[in-house]
Amino acid sequence: MEAKKISDSIVEMRELVLPNDTNMLGNLLGGRLLHWADIAGAMAASRHAQSIVATAVIDSVEFSQPVHVGEMIVLKARLTWVGRTSMEVLVEAYSENYLTGKTKLTNKAYLTFVALDQNGKPHPVPGLILETEEERCENEKAAKRREVRLSRRVC
Ligand SMILES: CC(C)(COP(=O)(O)OP(=O)(O)OC[C@H]1O[C@@H](n2cnc3c(N)ncnc32)[C@H](O)[C@@H]1OP(=O)(O)O)[C@@H](O)C(=O)NCCC(=O)NCCS
Repeated sequence: MEAKKISDSIVEMRELVLPNDTNMLGNLLGGRLLHWADIAGAMAASRHAQSIVATAVIDSVEFSQPVHVGEMIVLKARLTWVGRTSMEVLVEAYSENYLTGKTKLTNKAYLTFVALDQNGKPHPVPGLILETEEERCENEKAAKRREVRLSRRVC
């Protein structure tokens, strides 16, 4: 399998935040955000692996700013690390007020996906080509996050 660049599988997904997506204050629900982050992350992982993927872990989720009803949310997903069958994806969410044109980073999450074959068994994924200093730095940090995740795995 030929290694692929991170830029080959980047996904950008846009949603409009409607009343049904929000709490009583009109702010986007955390669960809805996670649902969209999972979809955006899975699409990036599937593009890299060219296969079905399953979400294995969602962690390091930050909700730094609320997203308001009527705003758009832009989810940007990109791979940061790959193992033999698993991949870590960073999903960043930005809110966009299309009336003012203002955007802000509101959420960040790391998701781990596993590539599956037709029988639902883990199967190998292509390697990752790191092209920039930022990608190399993120990749090193991802390897450390993986160690922490594995240490938490139930025996
Ligand atoms: C995710 C799943 C396929 C892993 O299966 P498994 O039998 O544990 O397979 P393995 O032990 O061979 O692990 C496969 C890969 O996942 C990684 N992995 C599994 N659990 C992990 C964890 N908690 N943290 C980090 N990596 C993990 C392994 O390290 C391995 O990676 P590698 O091949 O890159 O080294 C399995 O647990 C599963 O099907 N879970 C349910 C998934 C699901 O329903 N998701 C929601 C809907 S998509």
